Amino acid sequence: MHCERGTDMKRYNRITPEGTRDLLFRESNERKKVMATLRSIFEDAGYNYVITPGFEFYDVFSSSELYFPQESMYKLVDDKGRILVARPDSTIPIARLVATKLKGFPLPLRLCYEQTIFRKNPGLSGRNDETMQSGVELIGDSSFNSDIEILKLGVKALSACQKKNLRIEIGHVGIFKLLMENIEASDDQKAAIHEFIAAKNYAALSSKLDKLKNDRTTALLKELPKLFGGKEVIAKAEKIFSDYDVRITEMIEYLKKIFCELKKRGFEEYVIIDFGLVNQAEYYSSLVFRGYIEAVGAPVLSGGRYDRLLRDFGYDQPATGFAINVDLLTYSALKEEENSRVTDNGNLRIALTKGRLEKDAIKLFKAMGFDCKNLEEKGRKLLVSIPNQDIDVLFAKAADVITYVEHGVCDLGIVGMDTIMEKGGTFYEVLNLGFGKCKFSLAAPKGVDFYSGYSTKRISTKYPKVTRDFFEEKGMDVEIIKIEGSVELAPILSLADAIVDIVETGKTLKENGLEIIEDIQELSARLIVNEASMKMKKDKIDSLIEKMDRAVNG
Ligand code: PRP
Repeated sequence: MHCERGTDMKRYNRITPEGTRDLLFRESNERKKVMATLRSIFEDAGYNYVITPGFEFYDVFSSSELYFPQESMYKLVDDKGRILVARPDSTIPIARLVATKLKGFPLPLRLCYEQTIFRKNPGLSGRNDETMQSGVELIGDSSFNSDIEILKLGVKALSACQKKNLRIEIGHVGIFKLLMENIEASDDQKAAIHEFIAAKNYAALSSKLDKLKNDRTTALLKELPKLFGGKEVIAKAEKIFSDYDVRITEMIEYLKKIFCELKKRGFEEYVIIDFGLVNQAEYYSSLVFRGYIEAVGAPVLSGGRYDRLLRDFGYDQPATGFAINVDLLTYSALKEEENSRVTDNGNLRIALTKGRLEKDAIKLFKAMGFDCKNLEEKGRKLLVSIPNQDIDVLFAKAADVITYVEHGVCDLGIVGMDTIMEKGGTFYEVLNLGFGKCKFSLAAPKGVDFYSGYSTKRISTKYPKVTRDFFEEKGMDVEIIKIEGSVELAPILSLADAIVDIVETGKTLKENGLEIIEDIQELSARLIVNEASMKMKKDKIDSLIEKMDRAVNG
């Protein structure tokens, strides 16, 4: 039998699939402890434990909206040819369960659960596809008191597992939804605006909105992601939205009432506000919230009110709830116990992209008045500090800058937009730094009519995702060949018909007999920020962004 190299008949009987893992001893015990703590808090508060199946029909998760991208769900087909998915979420199956098995039961219903969910993450991202969640759902009650009950329970649950530096962030997704109803934009434009607000990508949001009718609504949408912080944010929101729409005034008033009630109950130190909290806006209807703990770079709790979800299953009932990522809490408890983290000196940690962007980034730091001696004389050192600034800088390859920021081991990063587009990820993209300017282009040998003929074109590139997205948008099938560098060689050697690559001066294309067929995207360096750091270290990060903004934009 002939087997190609690397595809020999392997038996995968001694390892677990990527994204899953065995847990034993300290880890499994710690997780058990966290789960027991959460469950007893939920049950003591009157929440009844339920279990839903590990598999559900795909239709459950795509009733009226597609709540999860289909690429992120693990699927299989049953013996009748129907698509099943490994549960990617717990709230939707519970909504299904309530609307079917518990219809007619006295309301409100208080349910809690602890079960794994399955979502596909990009390979080698260091993220698990199987996550243990503990959570609660309060169904059939739309009152202010039910929102307070859930928020209080969230604070109690997190503080029972982690006392230090805990934050609960509240927002109101209804404001975003109303503003979006008031703009004239295509579905694609709306999706982009949604994405830019969620990512606090102020620059991209502005330029997208500038293409629409310039009115108060677009101006307010630009402000929305900037409205986050302590209680002062509410006053700011009241001012900005005054006389716009009485419904929004009421929503702000509601958030204020929630904030004041939490303050009254002694939770003020924990509560922060973000009017730009618009993740999963299809799912949530009004109040949304998240929980953060120290040294974990992602939200450990997320939840909100989902008054329309049960209607999808034929039972129109208001509901609210949250899920806690037990694995993140376990990880944090173990790390604390081990005390093995790089000693946290309280400094902000910034990752800089080595190579092309390095000089310009240092120039920027100088323009900000930083002493850059350590950076310029770093030699082979990869982690250095900036004197008198409480800032540590590390040097990494572009894609790794994103990895470090996503995982929260670095608070901020300076990275090219080319890498952001190719790698993607969850972080805030807060500033266009203006340097490292270049563009993504499609290029082919001079004189070739690239779009002619019917054969499937072959494209070589270092950026397969960008290339796939570009041609998918055109509805054009292409064959992509990933090349690691000197991509221009591929058409010369007839390996490919064209390339998708970065063009800066255009010299490399010219000297290799290629010309641009189409420009895809202007690119430059960006400042990215870890989501949790942005909330937990807001003052320090805000002041750094402000200084950077001033140095870049004057
Ligand atoms: C980049 C890019 C092009 C070249 C474009 O390559 O992939 O080859 O620069 O620059 P120009 O328009 O100014 O000529 P890089 O230098 O990063 O090397 P690589 O191809 O080996 O990755």
